[in-house]
Amino acid sequence: MKTTLISGCSSGFGLKIAGYFLAREWQVIATMRTPRADVLPPSDRLRVLALDVTDPESIRKAVEAAGPIDVLVNNAGIAAPSPAELTSIATVRELFETDTLGTIALTQAVLPQFRQRKAGVIVNVTSSATLKALPLIAAYRASTAAVNAFTESMALELEPFGVRAHLVLPGRAPDTRFGENARARMLGFDHETYADLARNVMAHLADTSSPITRPQDVAEAVWRAATDPSSPLRIPAGADAEAWAAEVQ
Ligand SMILES: NC(=O)c1ccc[n+]([C@@H]2O[C@H](COP(=O)([O-])OP(=O)(O)OC[C@H]3O[C@@H](n4cnc5c(N)ncnc54)[C@H](OP(=O)(O)O)[C@@H]3O)[C@@H](O)[C@H]2O)c1
Repeated sequence: MKTTLISGCSSGFGLKIAGYFLAREWQVIATMRTPRADVLPPSDRLRVLALDVTDPESIRKAVEAAGPIDVLVNNAGIAAPSPAELTSIATVRELFETDTLGTIALTQAVLPQFRQRKAGVIVNVTSSATLKALPLIAAYRASTAAVNAFTESMALELEPFGVRAHLVLPGRAPDTRFGENARARMLGFDHETYADLARNVMAHLADTSSPITRPQDVAEAVWRAATDPSSPLRIPAGADAEAWAAEVQ
């Protein structure tokens, strides 16, 4: 029976990915900053562990407690919608600490066992926003695009060991808690120059009449990366993400 460890399972994509793998007879190690087993269906194949990807000691403990795993899904992430000019360096650091360095640190903690066993898959959930410029997410785009670059080079290094690395690029998903969780870091709504832009962008982000990404799309893309060795390095997830990926090809 295969085992996956997933970061950021308290809500949104991570929760859906955990449920998707559980329903397919995998052992699932669902990690959360504040562990709560009751968000997932009870199962003897489910373990819920504490993990804050910005805390090296938390990573060490979670990876040690997890034991051998077959697939690592780096899903935890945060956003901070605000104009580039107004995004404080503290917020930029926060984005990079979680989205970029958290992903890299957790990957590095798991890679030795993959290399030694000559098997394993790393799936990094970034964003289709890395494919196309959008306003108000400059620092978030930079933090996730850095993961794309890291993953692409790492995939070349790991190939000789039979270890795979993939990127899942979701589109806009208003159904998750991503927007709500970003609210505390949002800026620009009361700024004389940026207020109209900020309102228009936020209205677009919340709009469900145009194509969007569902958590199920992301779970399916992660499953494909985990189980199909012929899957591409970059896998767009969601109708909007697939359309964008086709545009930039
Ligand atoms: N929703 C979108 O429109 C969208 C689009 C493209 C890409 N994405 C990417 O998809 C991923 C999942 O987002 P989502 O939409 O599912 O949002 P979400 O519902 O806000 O879920 C994000 C998860 O990350 C966790 N997290 C945040 N900081 C963490 C940390 N330091 N350590 C461990 N876990 C942490 C959150 O846990 P807490 O409950 O503890 O905060 C939560 O479980 C993110 O990487 C995001 O960049 C989202």
